[in-house]
Amino acid sequence: MAEFLIEAAAAVERWTINGEARRNALSKAMVNELASNVVRVSHAREVRAVVLTGAGDKAFCAGADLKERAAMSEQEVREFLGTLRRTFRSLEKSDCVFVAFINGAAFGGGTELALCCDLRVMAPSAEMGLTEVKLGIIPGAGGTQRLPRLIGQGAAKELILTGRRVAAEEALRLGLVNRIGSLADAHALATQVVGNAPIAVGAAKHAIANGAHLDLDAALELEQQHYQRTLGTEDRLEGLRAFAEKRAPVFKGR
Ligand code: COA
Repeated sequence: MAEFLIEAAAAVERWTINGEARRNALSKAMVNELASNVVRVSHAREVRAVVLTGAGDKAFCAGADLKERAAMSEQEVREFLGTLRRTFRSLEKSDCVFVAFINGAAFGGGTELALCCDLRVMAPSAEMGLTEVKLGIIPGAGGTQRLPRLIGQGAAKELILTGRRVAAEEALRLGLVNRIGSLADAHALATQVVGNAPIAVGAAKHAIANGAHLDLDAALELEQQHYQRTLGTEDRLEGLRAFAEKRAPVFKGR
């Protein structure tokens, strides 16, 4: 069985985790397929954004597959976490823009998966949480590092140390998600992004991500390097022409 249902519409793909019976938990097979899908879109210039969601209305992703985990040795858990960390990082490094639609529960690795995405839309009834300490572990796929970078140390410590679940209104207030909405809202966001110049979108994504923890001088230097990537592009000239001719630009990703 395919681990993801993939539907394509123009430059946006929708990836639905196809594991409703296990609440879309992160199994080895699912993570391996996620990794190959990320490689595929990172090389396919025609796919510019991905809306990532879970099957059914109960869960986006219930974290690690705890049934599979129970049968794994310590060494196997270590190897699995290595693959998970590399796979999650590959989403962030891709020029493709990932929009998570958190359709239901996102706990542990499910919240960590959403944190690797560029944008997050949360269904009104969904819940998120880094609940690992309740299971005798800590977030192992970037949660202790990405959550404080997104919402600040104080709020992140509260959520991680208590392991409590967060409803949509609070997630929005904390900045954990961009908006509360529907799958259509997630697609609308993705569509807005892919209407812009591809090289510029990729450069902006990486400038924001890689500059966040540099001192301001180094960060401004990094911005300059990414700006430079856009300077020689046909799309920049097309943007100027379209403005002068009072029409919508037609970007080619060159
Ligand atoms: N790994 C493997 N299977 C899981 C799972 C997980 N993380 N989460 C749920 N499932 C399975 C259940 O074991 C159950 O299987 P069964 O039908 O064979 O008994 C099935 O999914 C449905 O689970 P259920 O709890 O009845 O569904 P629900 O819709 O009422 O609740 C959740 C969904 C996600 C809120 C709930 O299952 C949950 O809290 N799961 C654990 C989340 C968690 O602690 N993740 C790890 C963080 S480190």
